[in-house]
Amino acid sequence: MKLIRIGVLGCGNVGAPLVSLIAQQQAAIEARTGVRLEVVSVAVRNLSKERDISLPEGMLTRDAMAVVNDPTIDVIVERMAEAGEVDVMDALAFRLPVQVIGELVGVPPSDRDQFRVLVRNAAAALEPGVTDTQLDAAEHAMAVMDDYFRGLIARRRRDLDHDLTSALIAARDGDDRLTEDEMVATLILLFSAGFETTTNLIGNGLLCLLRNPDQFDRLRADPALVDSAVEEMLRFESPVQVDARTAFEPVEIDGHTITTGETVVTFLGAANRDPAVFPDPDRFDVTRHPNHPLSFAAGIHYCLGANLARLEGRVVFDRLTRRFADIAWLDNGPDWRGTLILRGVNHLNVAVTPKEGTTR
Ligand code: HEM
Repeated sequence: MKLIRIGVLGCGNVGAPLVSLIAQQQAAIEARTGVRLEVVSVAVRNLSKERDISLPEGMLTRDAMAVVNDPTIDVIVERMAEAGEVDVMDALAFRLPVQVIGELVGVPPSDRDQFRVLVRNAAAALEPGVTDTQLDAAEHAMAVMDDYFRGLIARRRRDLDHDLTSALIAARDGDDRLTEDEMVATLILLFSAGFETTTNLIGNGLLCLLRNPDQFDRLRADPALVDSAVEEMLRFESPVQVDARTAFEPVEIDGHTITTGETVVTFLGAANRDPAVFPDPDRFDVTRHPNHPLSFAAGIHYCLGANLARLEGRVVFDRLTRRFADIAWLDNGPDWRGTLILRGVNHLNVAVTPKEGTTR
C-alpha cells in the first residue's frame, strides 16, 4: 500500500482536529484511496522550528495596524448606515477580516470572495461526523487553494512585493529556503485562519451584545470598555471551541495520568465557562476583570494572529458603538451553523440607526 506522510502545519485549530480526524477515519481513507496516511505535525510559528526560518520581526502586527486603521472599516460602516438593514455576517464580519488578511498576504481584492466558501468547505472536514460529500468538497477546496497559492507564489517570484507571500519567498535559514510546499501550506493556513475565526469573533461578539442589551448600553456609554468587551466576547462565545494537545511526557491532571503520546481534546469554550476561574461564568459582562480566556489556546501553539484578531475586534466594536445609536436584531434567534469546532452563525440580520451628526 502506498504511504503518504502529511506534515500538518499549525497543529492547532486546523491541525490538531485534522490529526484526530485522520486517526478516526484511517480505515475509511485507506479503503477509499488505497493510500495509508502518516501524519507528522510541523509547527508554524517560525514556519519550521527545526529550521528556524522566521518572518521579519513584528511584520504581521505592524502591517496589520496600518491595514485595519485605513479607511476600510469606515467604508464598511458607512455602507451599513446607508443600507439601514444588513446581514452583519456579509456586510462586516466576513468583509473586514478578509480584506485585512488579503492585504497582508497579498491576495488581490477581486480574488478574495471565493475563499469564503472554500475555507468553509475545507474546515467542514475538521468536524466530527463529516460525510463523504463534505470530504469531497473539502478535498476540492484544498486543491483550489493549493493551485491559487502556487500561482500567487509564481507571480511574486517574478515580481516581489511588500506582502507576506514575498516575505516567505525571501525567508531563509542560512542557505536553506522554504520549499514550495511549505510556502503553500503556510499561506493556506495563514489566510484561512486569518479570517474565518475573526469573522466569528465579530458575529458572535455582536450577538452577545444584542442578547444582553444592558451590556450593549454600558459599552455605548463608555467606549473605553471596548478592550474588556472584546475579551469577554472571546470568552463567552469562543470562535474556536475545540483544540487538542499531545503529551510529550507523562502529565498528571486532576488525578488522571496522560501518558506520552496520548492526545487530549481540549474544550476551550467549556474551559472559558469554568466557575472556578470565572465567577458567574454564564453572565456576559463587558467589565469582567480579571479575564483571561483560553480562546487562543496557550503555550507553544498559542494563536499567531491573536493580537491581530483582538485589534480587528476593538476597531469593529469601537466604530459600531460610536456610529450607531441603535442596532436592532431582526432574527428570531441565533442562526448557529451547527458546527462543533468553529462556532459561528450563518446570518445575523440587524437594522442600524446612525447617530445624528456622526459620520464615523
Ligand atoms: C478571534 C480570532 C481567532 C481565534 C479565536 C483563533 C484561535 C486559535 C487557536 C485556538 C489556535 C490553536 C493553537 C493550538 O492550540 O494549537 C490558533 C492557532 C493559530 N492561529 Fe489563530 N485564531 C484567531 C485568529 C487568527 C488570525 C487573524 C490568524 C492569522 C493572521 C491566525 C493564525 C493562526 C495560526 C498560524 C495558528 C497556528 C499557530 C501554531 O501552531 O504555532 N489566527 N488560533
